[in-house]
Amino acid sequence: MKILGIETSCDETSMAILEVDHKKNTKVLANVVSSQIKIHAKYGGVFPALAAREHAKNIDKVLKITLKEAGLKSVEEIDLIAVTKGPGLAVALIVGITFAKTLAWKYKKLIIGVNHLEGHIYSNWLKPIGEFSILNLQFSKKIFPALNLIVSGGHTELVLMKDHGQYKLIGETMDDAAGEAFDKIARLLGLGYPGGPLISAEAEELQATNHKLQTKLPRPMINSKNFNFSFSGLKTAVLYLIKKLREESPRSNLFEDSRFDLERVRPAIAHEAQQAIVDVLVSKTIKAAEKYKPKSILLSGGVSANSQLRTALQKATEKLGINYLQPELKYTGDNAAMIALAGYFNYAKGKKKTDWKSAEVNANLRI
Ligand code: KG4
Ligand code: ZN
Repeated sequence: MKILGIETSCDETSMAILEVDHKKNTKVLANVVSSQIKIHAKYGGVFPALAAREHAKNIDKVLKITLKEAGLKSVEEIDLIAVTKGPGLAVALIVGITFAKTLAWKYKKLIIGVNHLEGHIYSNWLKPIGEFSILNLQFSKKIFPALNLIVSGGHTELVLMKDHGQYKLIGETMDDAAGEAFDKIARLLGLGYPGGPLISAEAEELQATNHKLQTKLPRPMINSKNFNFSFSGLKTAVLYLIKKLREESPRSNLFEDSRFDLERVRPAIAHEAQQAIVDVLVSKTIKAAEKYKPKSILLSGGVSANSQLRTALQKATEKLGINYLQPELKYTGDNAAMIALAGYFNYAKGKKKTDWKSAEVNANLRI
């Protein structure tokens, strides 16, 4: 069967086609992502109304390209439509959901709503275009129960997954998400949007500079007994650190402005902030693994592109002697291939199967 995935929850208009053979081996035939990042970068974050307008403007074109790349002539050849139903920006989600419902109605196809975070979890099992993912029973036995660390721009969650479709939330952020922390700290450092990759690149410059920070940034809630997170204090600590460095920097005379040069200290601050976020994420995930004893740890969400996090979590997981999975870099950000794969497993379980008449619009649904 062939599944058309549609994703419009934030600033990427994405469609993908996934093929599943009779042995339940899955293969991505096409995965098209039309990114709006350049448009939103000017505003330092995603501007919802603009995101919705761009989705509406590009969605037909993205469908045409996706069908062409997959070698299909029409939606007629699709068996199931999987669309992100939330969480995300309501005005942006509605564009994808309405488009999916219209296609389902026009071509009389099944439609299924997919939770965006569940999609991120499934990104772990996507292979490059044209390669098979073998997700058979043997594979399931090695992976489940799995502990998921989902880190995106809007969410930071630890989710236990007993099997396909069976989730238990065991920890989440009390305030800012990890990606949001990267984005806000990047703004304080005068870097652009999205902040994660920019902070990462800046941190790598540290070797080239000789500036060292005298103070360490906090690792919020690292020793708390539960598995929740908090990142807003870290952002505030960066704000005060910049203020302090500015005040301490010498002035040549009373009337001249401070000689503080943010550019000089930026790599050191970026490096320390990134390390603080990674330390908390890894420490909490490992503590949760020690308690719940999963067979694997799975990383996902936009922040899973962070190489420090990937390396640190992999090393810590290997020490525990359990399996570790992380998505291929091309599937870390929002994409419709992960929505199609999660949609397929929901469909196969028969749990959330629905037709076009009953597809729900639920912007706040959680796993
Ligand atoms: O999953 P995603 O693409 O969208 C949401 O569902 O939110 O995640 C976007 C987030 C942004 O906050 C972005 O700064 C962060 O992922 N991100 C990174 C990196 N690449 C993207 N954070 C840290 N390091 C990266 N390399
Ligand atoms: Zn996402």
